[in-house]
Amino acid sequence: MDYYRIQGGTPLEGSVRISGAKNAALPIIVASLLADGETVLENVPNLMDIRTIIRVIEYLGARTEFDTQRNLLRIRVESLKNAEVPYELVKTMRASIYVMGPLLARTGESTVSLPGGCAIGERPVDIHLSGFEAMGARIDLEHGNIRASASSLSGAQFAMRKVSVGATANLMMAAVLAKGTTVLENCAMEPDVVDLGSFLMKMGARISGLGTDRIEIEGVEKLSPVTYSVIPDRIEAGTFLIAGAITRGKITINGVIPDHIAALLGTLGEMGYRVESGNDWVSVSPTNRITGTIVRTHPFPGFPTDLQAPIMTLGSTSPGLHVVIETIFENRFTHVPELRRMGADITIEGNVAIARGVESLSAAPVMMSDLRAGAALVLAALQAKGITEIRRIYHCDRGYEDLDGKLRSIGAVIERVSGGSF
Ligand code: UD1
Repeated sequence: MDYYRIQGGTPLEGSVRISGAKNAALPIIVASLLADGETVLENVPNLMDIRTIIRVIEYLGARTEFDTQRNLLRIRVESLKNAEVPYELVKTMRASIYVMGPLLARTGESTVSLPGGCAIGERPVDIHLSGFEAMGARIDLEHGNIRASASSLSGAQFAMRKVSVGATANLMMAAVLAKGTTVLENCAMEPDVVDLGSFLMKMGARISGLGTDRIEIEGVEKLSPVTYSVIPDRIEAGTFLIAGAITRGKITINGVIPDHIAALLGTLGEMGYRVESGNDWVSVSPTNRITGTIVRTHPFPGFPTDLQAPIMTLGSTSPGLHVVIETIFENRFTHVPELRRMGADITIEGNVAIARGVESLSAAPVMMSDLRAGAALVLAALQAKGITEIRRIYHCDRGYEDLDGKLRSIGAVIERVSGGSF
């Protein structure tokens, strides 16, 4: 298995172009199943999760062509197979559950293997399922599979008991072809949900309230395939800004939507960084007043849970106390024991982590436990004294396009080494 070898301590300088958003591209790729004909998607990042979802839709009858050099994905849908999505695919990526909405809407039936637990908590799918039930579907759980079926879906009023990105996206995809009007309440307002909604509207869906907590969808008979460009990845953008900050360098990220990372930019400002931004770029540089702060994760527009591990890493190397409160997922502190191995002084109390800033981390062999925890270790290694080797980097391959190449382009000393016994 490949691993990273990183020599820390070099301030990163320069600019990086941000790729398309993984979490927007995933539901959009699946939503292409809602229309017959050829959908063309631009700015699709070349990532393991994207290649997995492509396999899932191919399994269901779509034909695809992914030009990874141009980040262009063509999807051709002629006839959909109502096939069961196998456990091998679902277990590597929970977003496979997204096929339920479109399949149910188009074929009246969908069977997906129940996603198991995962490294960052229990992650149930009950909200997705009760939403389908409210629209008239019957749900059966058998042999580890979830089967949803409906002779036809009808519009419904449904309030989600908790804000869920996945459930909001899945229910929108089911509702666009349902009979009548669906009103979804307590919706996620994440840019990824808005991007999916914009794609569906371009296909002919009637949706209002995108980007608010109440989305209204008037079902239509049929949708048409379109060409669409995916928004930039705000989590990749944030990770690179933090990479610049943690090495006390000056980084500019290009091709981004600054509003999507406003919560992070506010936090970096509080921590003493100078933040400048234009229409589609942001740059961050250090001042002589760097300090820790308090960060509480929250659904958008709050601070994203996907940047919790990266910001904790920055806080653990900033003078003073830094407090991180995780409110979205339980068990999302798996990076902490690894950061401690590198000299971080972090105490955990329930869902609160308190870091006492150390001047410098020190290199140690460490292991990624999930995608964003993995990014945190890369950030730590960029700051640490010495050479850090990081294993299980396939976690980062799921969500960062050419991470080591992009970091090298701004001066990081990082090498992806093939092989290794563990
Ligand atoms: C998505 C993102 C993930 C991000 C998360 C929160 C994708 C592919 N993944 O995950 O990167 O960290 O949003 O911003 O877009 N919940 C339930 N029942 C459900 C669904 C969710 O209890 O049926 C709970 C979850 O356990 C969690 C909270 O709701 O505590 C939010 O989860 P959700 O927004 O659904 O996360 P995902 O869509 O899985």
